[in-house]
Amino acid sequence: MNILLLGAQGQVGAALRPLLASVGKLTAWTRADLDLQQPAQIRARVLEVRPQLIINAAAYTAVDRAESEPHIAHAINASAPAVFAAVARQCDALLVHYSTDYVFDGNKTTPYLEEDAAHPLNVYGHTKLEGERAIQSSGCRHLIFRTSWVYSATGHNFLRTILRLAKTQSRLRIVADQQGAPTAAPMIARLTLQAIQAVQADTQRAGLYHLSAAGQTTWHGFAQAIVQAAGVDVPVDAITTLDYPTPARRPVYSLLDHQRLRTQLGLSPTSWQAGLDEVMATLV
Ligand SMILES: NC(=O)c1ccc[n+]([C@@H]2O[C@H](COP(=O)([O-])OP(=O)(O)OC[C@H]3O[C@@H](n4cnc5c(N)ncnc54)[C@H](OP(=O)(O)O)[C@@H]3O)[C@@H](O)[C@H]2O)c1
Repeated sequence: MNILLLGAQGQVGAALRPLLASVGKLTAWTRADLDLQQPAQIRARVLEVRPQLIINAAAYTAVDRAESEPHIAHAINASAPAVFAAVARQCDALLVHYSTDYVFDGNKTTPYLEEDAAHPLNVYGHTKLEGERAIQSSGCRHLIFRTSWVYSATGHNFLRTILRLAKTQSRLRIVADQQGAPTAAPMIARLTLQAIQAVQADTQRAGLYHLSAAGQTTWHGFAQAIVQAAGVDVPVDAITTLDYPTPARRPVYSLLDHQRLRTQLGLSPTSWQAGLDEVMATLV
């Protein structure tokens, strides 16, 4: 099977790479191989690979910066996925794509279902939702996974920021009024591979799924767990979103429901605490 992976150096992309290489002939591209800011180039380059499976782990993920760079975020998160979908349809390839809990506004108090109305609060969320819709309306076979609060042992993420700050600051002040599920990239990669195999066995299982860690916490709770796991003795103070203003608004509640993932694909995410243990064990 010819597999094309985009975003091979991102958190999810890097975790996918060895898994995908074990199940097919993998072409793994980074931004240097194909810049998704230029959607016009994408079709011809992808067709060269003749992929049977396209996995788009690339995205514009700088949530706050997107507020001042909406056109760039749109090109990468909405226009590029639309081209991948058109090419996937042309090649009869399965397209795997990732989206976000930030398509929701956070007004619910129970986990979001796939069919709940999306209402993004920020530019990033809007562009990711547009990418989802372009794929869904293209008619290509697809798996779209909405995930949340992604982190890994490498890259730019909350876990690495907390570990850095814990070494240099006498106390940390972390937002405690946003509820969500920190999700480790290695688990996303493993469940992605299992989902692909399930869809290859039965194409009726394709579609949109919520894939995040089980359980819930706040950024403050996550920071406390990180500091504890690292064995660092630094106090973590709880603050509110109002105490820490950011350019992009974020949902106060963005838990994702996993019932569809369990019943349609037979997959059960592990807890966010188990993901943290796994990632901490691989930190260098
Ligand atoms: N991170 C989160 O907290 C989070 C939460 C919910 C959903 N998601 C979704 O999960 C998926 C994977 O996210 P992630 O955390 O693995 O993201 P990530 O670590 O930020 O990786 C994204 C990758 O996309 C690449 N990229 C950005 N702009 C590009 C361009 N113009 N052309 C080609 N490649 C480009 C980046 O390359 P460079 O390294 O060169 O910039 C990077 O390797 C994304 O769809 C994201 O929207 C993420």
